[in-house]
Amino acid sequence: MKCEITRDIGAGADLIRQGELVAFATETVYGLGANALNPEAVARIFEVKQRPHFDPLIVHISNIQYLDELTYGLTEQARKLAEQFWPGPLTLVLPKRKKIPDLVTSGLDSVAIRIPAHPIARQLLEAAELPIAAPSANKFGCLSPTQASHVAEQLGSEIKLILEGGACAVGVESTVIQCTGEVPVLLRPGGISLEEIEGCVGEVRLAQIEDHAEAKSPLSPGMLPKHYAPRTRLTIADQLSDVPIEGSKGLLSLFSLEETFLKDCQFSAREILSPSGDLKIAAARLFTALRNLDAAGVDHIIALRMPEEGLGRTINNRLERAAAT
Ligand code: TXA
Ligand code: MG
Repeated sequence: MKCEITRDIGAGADLIRQGELVAFATETVYGLGANALNPEAVARIFEVKQRPHFDPLIVHISNIQYLDELTYGLTEQARKLAEQFWPGPLTLVLPKRKKIPDLVTSGLDSVAIRIPAHPIARQLLEAAELPIAAPSANKFGCLSPTQASHVAEQLGSEIKLILEGGACAVGVESTVIQCTGEVPVLLRPGGISLEEIEGCVGEVRLAQIEDHAEAKSPLSPGMLPKHYAPRTRLTIADQLSDVPIEGSKGLLSLFSLEETFLKDCQFSAREILSPSGDLKIAAARLFTALRNLDAAGVDHIIALRMPEEGLGRTINNRLERAAAT
C-alpha cells in the first residue's frame, strides 16, 4: 500500500467515514485512528498495531457534547478535570454507554475519552463528525511516534494516509485518570502532571503497576510493565555514581536531563534532553532521543533518572517500562 503524508483533512475524514485507518498528529503523540463506532474498522487497528485485544483504546471526540452520547454518570471531579484540561493531553475513563463497541473497551464497562488540542486532530474529528478510536501509531510495545516520519517507518506499508502536523509539542501520551469512583485514580502519568491534577481535584489515588496486573482485578489491562521500549537494552541509574562504566561490555550511551560531568569519551553516544533542566522540553524530546540512541547502534542505554516531579514523573514511568524485562 502506498502511504501518503499530507495535511488534507478532507481526505482523512473520508477514509475514516469509509471505515479505513488514518494516522494523525495530536499534541501528545501521533494516533492511529478509526471510526470508534465501527467494530470492523476498530479491529483493523488491533491487527495493524499487533496489539492484544485485552488492551482498550482511547476514544477521541471533538467536543463535550459527545460525552452524553458515549458515557454517563459524570462525577464532579471528572467535570472539573474536563473543564480545566480539555482540549489537551488528558484522558478520562468514564462509565460507558452501549453505543461503544466492546472491542474498543476490551469488554470493560468503562471507556477512555479525550478531546485533543492539536488543530490537525480537531479538524479531522470535526470533518469526520464521528468519535475516533486511536492508540499511538506504533507497533505494540515500541516507541511512540512524535513525527509523521516515525509513523511512516513502522506503519507506512499498512495504512493509506498520515495527517502530518509537525513534531508533537507535548511528546508523551496523555495522562489517564479513572473517574468511575469517589476518588479519581491516576492510571497512567502523562502530559498533564500529577501536581496539576491534584491542584484541580485534590486527592488522587495512584495506581501501582501491580494494580494493572492481569491476575488481580485489572484497573487498566493494557498497562503492561514492559512497554514504550527502544530496541537497545536500557538501564536506569539513580545518580551519576551508579553509572556502571567500569566493567560493562559493549558500547555505552548516556541518556540524561542535563549536562553531566562524566567524560564524553566514556560514551559512544549521549542524549541530553534539556540543558536548562526544563522537564517539559525533556518530555517533548523523550521518544526522539531514544530513537536516536537506537539508531546510534549502541549496546546499552544508561538513563539517569529524572527528578520525580512534574513531567519528570511521566518520563521516569516510560523509562521504567522501557527497562522492564
Ligand atoms: O496521548 C494519548 O493518549 C495517545 C494519543 C493518540 O491520543 N493515545 C494513546 O493510546 O496513548 P494508547 O492506546 O497507546 O494508550 C491508551 C491507554 C492504554 O494503556 C489503555 O490500557 C488505557 O489507555 N485505557 C483505555 N481504555 C481504558 C479503560 N476503559 N479503562 C482503563 N484504562 C483504559
Ligand atoms: Mg501506546
